Amino acid sequence: MKKILLVGFCFLIGFWYKVSLGYAKRTILRMVGPEDVNGAWAEIIRRFEARNPQIHIQYLSGPWSTDDRENMYIRSFLSGDPFEIVYMDVTWTAKFAARGWLLPLDRWFGPEKTRVFFPGALKAGYYRGHLYRLPVTTDVGVLYWRRDLLPRPPRTWAELEDLCRHYAHPPGLYCLVFQGMQYEGLTCNFLEFLWGAGGRILDSSGKPALDSPAALWTLNFMQHLIKDRFSPRAVLSFQEEHSLEFFLQGRALFLRNWPYAWKIINRKGSPLRGRVGLAPLPARKGHLSAGTLGGWGLGIARGTKDPEAARAFIEFATSAEAQKILHLRRGWLPARRDLFRDPDLLRHSPYLRELAPLLEKARPRPVHPAYPRLSDTLQKHVSAVLAGVENPPKALRALSRTLTFIVEEPETGLLKRLARDYELRRTLKNTLFFGLVSVGLEFVLGLFLALLLYAPFPGRTWVRLSVLIPWALPTAVMAMSWQWMLNNPFGVINDLLVRAGILAHPVDWLASPRGAMWSAILADVWKTTPFVVLILLAGLYSVPRELRESMAVDGAGPVKRFLYLDLPLLLPFIRVALIFRLLQAFGIFDLIWVLTRGGPADGTRTLCLYIYDLAFRYDDLGYALFLTALFFLALIGLSFLIVRLTTLGYERRR
Ligand code: GLC
Repeated sequence: MKKILLVGFCFLIGFWYKVSLGYAKRTILRMVGPEDVNGAWAEIIRRFEARNPQIHIQYLSGPWSTDDRENMYIRSFLSGDPFEIVYMDVTWTAKFAARGWLLPLDRWFGPEKTRVFFPGALKAGYYRGHLYRLPVTTDVGVLYWRRDLLPRPPRTWAELEDLCRHYAHPPGLYCLVFQGMQYEGLTCNFLEFLWGAGGRILDSSGKPALDSPAALWTLNFMQHLIKDRFSPRAVLSFQEEHSLEFFLQGRALFLRNWPYAWKIINRKGSPLRGRVGLAPLPARKGHLSAGTLGGWGLGIARGTKDPEAARAFIEFATSAEAQKILHLRRGWLPARRDLFRDPDLLRHSPYLRELAPLLEKARPRPVHPAYPRLSDTLQKHVSAVLAGVENPPKALRALSRTLTFIVEEPETGLLKRLARDYELRRTLKNTLFFGLVSVGLEFVLGLFLALLLYAPFPGRTWVRLSVLIPWALPTAVMAMSWQWMLNNPFGVINDLLVRAGILAHPVDWLASPRGAMWSAILADVWKTTPFVVLILLAGLYSVPRELRESMAVDGAGPVKRFLYLDLPLLLPFIRVALIFRLLQAFGIFDLIWVLTRGGPADGTRTLCLYIYDLAFRYDDLGYALFLTALFFLALIGLSFLIVRLTTLGYERRR
């Protein structure tokens, strides 16, 4: 018996040793992608790991928006511990490669291996003659149209207008929905209008080319779509998902989106299943239609300890097997041309036949290391035109000036830049407005609630607890909830206000700069008033009850007691709350980033968003640090000022 136990024990030790040794030797590679709906990536990783047990791939679910995921990668590069597998949009390569963040892939993937991809998708992976990214999926902007309501898809924008004059009847059924929020998607949409009118942003020598009749027509046309109710004003707050939802609710005849939407529109239970057609985007009469080339691919972060393991994963994830999984489970289009002739896939998705020619003609966005800044500038002005706060000629003049500045990158001293920095002035104005108004409201409301909750009444403990809930919620989560709640037409806020008879029509809260600013203030006041209540309530408890009673005996009413007793004794508490709240409000970032991303028309872009963009998106670290230092000094000055203003004379003498 003893012998058996001993052998068993040795066996266990040996097994444990082998397993732990194997585990220790395992290479772990991380990548960030969108939420893995339907487990497409999980399946690819499962198959890869079964064949390569010594490698473990960790798929981290990031946000949906391309800008947000790009920022996650940038932060990981700057931290010195980058995610090893870089899952990139077509537009990221130039910037990441120019910063030296990526390993060239040429030594592993020569022409014999890369021939199979769509040329456009492959080209997006090159920077200065080297390959840094291998395509996994590809995308092209397309037009979805209501086959059940319309006789045919339009080929020109004029035809689209004619069809809509006949068949659309807003606000029940609009003509066209697209992505008009201030983010990367707006650049894609704008370019499609511009290319379809024969224009472009940069000419062949890389100089800005927006000073053209085509660009003027584009902005005028986009503005007209909203002004004349072809498109709902709500598109100003729409990303892909919002516009798709609007279309799925049967509220528009046409939708501009990427091909992934096809599977969602036609899945079981969808109200539009079998009722929608797919077509190239219309163009201006006499010009060629063009969809923006999009898509995602894989690269390797420089500094990855086991590049061979990363190479093996990229090879598998770009194989026909993996691209099929991504298509069948998610509807993403393969980047390999041959799959568009694959009988399996065609049986499952016959529409791939129509898409292949569109992909061959898809046009890329400019490949430039300063692309993020180019794109942000475009978004800002296009958004301003859509919101009706800038007229097209003025927007084009401003755009041409700024784009020239970005492309030529003139050397200017920090102080000179500070004096001429128009964006700084604008973001400063937004920051001050946001901070002062929201903190002001929080104090008025906070004081009122604190006084209310100080007085005893039945159930007070529960009411106190519930008032605190908003403060306990994570800001990003609550900002996302507000984004959907304020949305028109899905938002619950419009619904309640219209039902209660307060509003005659739903309002596009996030579609105008002013509406978006007040929405951000509302969300901030909702979240942070409890903090003020908490501190003021503690202050009220610190006022000795006997003093209040003796004042009452002397005949002082509640107002007098508050003004001459409570308020002076509350001052130290007000001081603390004010310093905390003002510093937080002037440094606001997360709420605005999630709710509006600074738009529309830069109307909610605050100083911290600007500094963040400078540092992480535009690689302008020197100027960003300079502004941060000035901001820091200003906040210290402000804190001193508050302390001084809230310290009474007798306290100072003490
Ligand atoms: C899609 C495209 C991508 C584009 C993005 C914009 O994900 O594939 O290339 O940048 O949409 O929202």
